[in-house]
Amino acid sequence: MHYATTEKKENLIFDLDPEKKDNIDHVLLMYSGGLDTSVLLTWIQDQYEAEVSTFTIDVGQREAHLDQVRDKALKLGAKNAFVVDAKDEFAEDYIAKSIKANGLYQDSYPLSTAIARPLMSKIAVDYAKSEGISAIAHGSTGKGNDQVRFEASIRALNDSITVLAPVREWDMSREMELAYVEEKNIPIPVDSESPYSIDENLWGRSVECGILEDPAEEPPENVHELVSPVEETPDEPEYVELEFKKGVPIQLNDEEMGLVDLIKKLTALAGKHGVGMIDTVEDRIVGLKSREIYECPAATVILKAHEELEKYCSTRHENSFKPLVDQKWAEMIYQGLAFDPLVNDLEAYIEKVNEKVEGNVRLKLFKGSATVVGRSSENGLYSHSLATYDEESTFDQSSSEGFIDIWSLPTKVGFNREKSV
Ligand code: ARG
Repeated sequence: MHYATTEKKENLIFDLDPEKKDNIDHVLLMYSGGLDTSVLLTWIQDQYEAEVSTFTIDVGQREAHLDQVRDKALKLGAKNAFVVDAKDEFAEDYIAKSIKANGLYQDSYPLSTAIARPLMSKIAVDYAKSEGISAIAHGSTGKGNDQVRFEASIRALNDSITVLAPVREWDMSREMELAYVEEKNIPIPVDSESPYSIDENLWGRSVECGILEDPAEEPPENVHELVSPVEETPDEPEYVELEFKKGVPIQLNDEEMGLVDLIKKLTALAGKHGVGMIDTVEDRIVGLKSREIYECPAATVILKAHEELEKYCSTRHENSFKPLVDQKWAEMIYQGLAFDPLVNDLEAYIEKVNEKVEGNVRLKLFKGSATVVGRSSENGLYSHSLATYDEESTFDQSSSEGFIDIWSLPTKVGFNREKSV
């Protein structure tokens, strides 16, 4: 056990456990090219006297100039620099499930960072195995959710892998890392100027730290990149139409397209109208509350449309039960337990319900809001002849009287019993 306050060293040189050091000769580092992982690339080679191969996954983050990331890693001494395009797998196997589960944590966060972590862990474990590497390193701190998600996933997938989390283990601060980068002549990492900690993928962008740590303060404008401030959005609304098949959007307006393209296009469209800005205080896995800013324009529109269509195609009883399943699913994903069998169990139900979620939803994007303005589906349970107040109505209103007698019976008895005591 290392106690940060006594161990903190400016030059990031620590007394490593010699046994652990001897056992590690090659490390697979999950590498984004940001400050933490750039420090770790050099640091692990120095401190563990081990070879490091880096591993970078494209899950749709815009700044992914992945060739540059690879070149930089090789310049910094990486034995191999693996770059994997996982956008399609991320969209089709992870985002699609989240759409069907109306995936929101605490009713606000579309789980954009959270759902990428199990995929990244799975791909890393597969690579480690195929390259004969027995240790995986990540750059997460000891306060966040991502450490839990990576390590819980890796443990489930292959418990013989050693995980190194040096930023957590040695409580590396931003100041210490910046000094190290300078001392070791590490090329300036992409995010070293930013006051924020940012994570981005196809499904959204998460921003934390800096001024945002004061939950009473409005986020400054430089926080936003995907969503325009409402003051700058068009003065005319724009309509979008989404066509769903088995719970997943397959067409945007008149054009059929794959989920990756659809999300990218919708991110631009909805972001332009100020849709998808989320400012929330959430409960982290490790017990503390944190203030988070998310920009999730496509997720906001798609989740809203999906939920509406699902409700339209499901019975009242299904509609009251499904949110319970969805909420549990979102909690499991947020809390890093994507590989727990319960997730599969829940997904079996979620898939079944979504078989009928097909049809069309029209939304109006305007000044920061996405409003559903129309829906249609061959599987819709709406019946015009039952609902209409016109003469052709087929609903027998005279049956309602007897229905109300019976429906209100327990309430009437219970209420009067309470009144009498
Ligand atoms: N709080 C969010 C989550 O746990 C976002 C985490 C963002 N990660 C980051 N390195 N900035 O999913």
